[in-house]
Amino acid sequence: MADKAQIIIEGKTYELPVIVGTENERAVDISKLRAETSYITLDNGFGNTGACTSAITFLDGELGILRYRGFPVEQIAEHCTFIETAYLLIYGELPTQTQLDDFSNSFTKQAGLHKDMLNFFDGYPKSGHPMGLLSAMVCSLSGYYPELLNPEPSQDEMKRTAAQLLSKVRTIAACTYRKSVGQTFVPPREDLKYIPNFLHMMFSSPNKDYKIDDTVVDALRVLLILHADHEQNCSTSTVRLVGSSWANMFASISAGVCALWGPLHGGANQEVIEMLEEIHKNGGNVQQYVDKAKDPNSNFRLMGFGHRVYKNFDPRAKIIKKCADDLLNKMGIHDPLLDIAMQLEAAALKDEYFIKRKLYPNVDFYSGIIYKAIGIPKEMFTVMFAIGRMPGWIAHWKEMKENPNSKICRPRQIYVGKTKRDFVPVTSR
Ligand code: SDX
Repeated sequence: MADKAQIIIEGKTYELPVIVGTENERAVDISKLRAETSYITLDNGFGNTGACTSAITFLDGELGILRYRGFPVEQIAEHCTFIETAYLLIYGELPTQTQLDDFSNSFTKQAGLHKDMLNFFDGYPKSGHPMGLLSAMVCSLSGYYPELLNPEPSQDEMKRTAAQLLSKVRTIAACTYRKSVGQTFVPPREDLKYIPNFLHMMFSSPNKDYKIDDTVVDALRVLLILHADHEQNCSTSTVRLVGSSWANMFASISAGVCALWGPLHGGANQEVIEMLEEIHKNGGNVQQYVDKAKDPNSNFRLMGFGHRVYKNFDPRAKIIKKCADDLLNKMGIHDPLLDIAMQLEAAALKDEYFIKRKLYPNVDFYSGIIYKAIGIPKEMFTVMFAIGRMPGWIAHWKEMKENPNSKICRPRQIYVGKTKRDFVPVTSR
């Protein structure tokens, strides 16, 4: 296979190197294109542009493959804890028992919030969206840990920052939820593991601890693992781009939270449930909504469907669909929204519009069914996505910092505005 590409510009042939990855993905390296030709490339939405090389996660959109550091996500979801998965993504290998204990214990110590941070919640409107608070709180951690803001952090400083973020994201999420329902905060417990501690902070009352249900814990374990990383998605690319300016990890990941909030990205899981609720309220006619999604004059989209990379089933959606079905059966819950979701999927997957565009259910299509069954309100769904994605954001920030070739991200543009013109006053002065 060629290790060089040729491009002919104004009759002159230029050779550009071809980069080949370990999974035989190929890229034309255009790093020297502008210097040699004065031309740049233009790629709306970066659908054809690689921002970096990475060893963290591999996706094959055509085959519906997702692997974390080489391990198929199906096997990780079956055998690992979320903390083991976080360690694997951040450090590249599954942890030994000693490494896992050290990593996990670092969370236990860091789970609480500084008392002054708890005051932040007093000033935020009860009806405010939790993602706005999460982003603000994550960035504000930089004010409480100034020793972790080194623009060129050591391994130990990155390890300590990662522990703060992975541990505290749960606490911030739980406090945000408690504030939204007018309940007092429940502090983390040192004797509870990652997910049980989160559920405790979410749902215990001051005089009655939430009864930890292993079925619920396992469903959340699978969900958090499946959300843990997804290579250069919008929010992870945001984290890398902000970090490329040598902004600290807190600030970079706070920006990632904001990117994830968008309804086209992580915000879709809330939109899916709202769409299913509307279909249910309007009598459950799924075909009407499939037709609306196809209507070129309507900007309605089937939320939870389609993906920039997957042109086959999102492997995560398959696992989540089964997890939702199993959980509802074990909890003895019949949620009509799950029936509607399955009918909507069936109707869309046999419709030429969706088949032609290779639109399949993505990670957000069924996840809300599980969160809803656990008692997590839909406004918190994207916060749950952020808890899951925290290890991926940290792993990519760390990989970018450790890459000696990393540079500040500064894309070019093609200017299409007014050409040079002299100033003519418009208003009399
Ligand atoms: C996530 O990148 C990641 O990895 C993200 C993520 C992760 O783990 O980080 O996987 C998480 O963000 C999943 C996606 C969640 N978003 C949604 O479910 C929102 C609904 N989906 C879409 O808006 C859309 O599919 C995107 C945003 C996901 C992808 O958009 P693209 O790749 O830019 O595709 P496009 O908008 O150009 O659509 C191509 C065609 C268009 O039709 P035509 O102009 O060719 O006629 O497909 C149509 C679109 O109108 N289309 C849809 C559709 N998604 C695309 N039509 C109806 N319903 C949809 N959901």
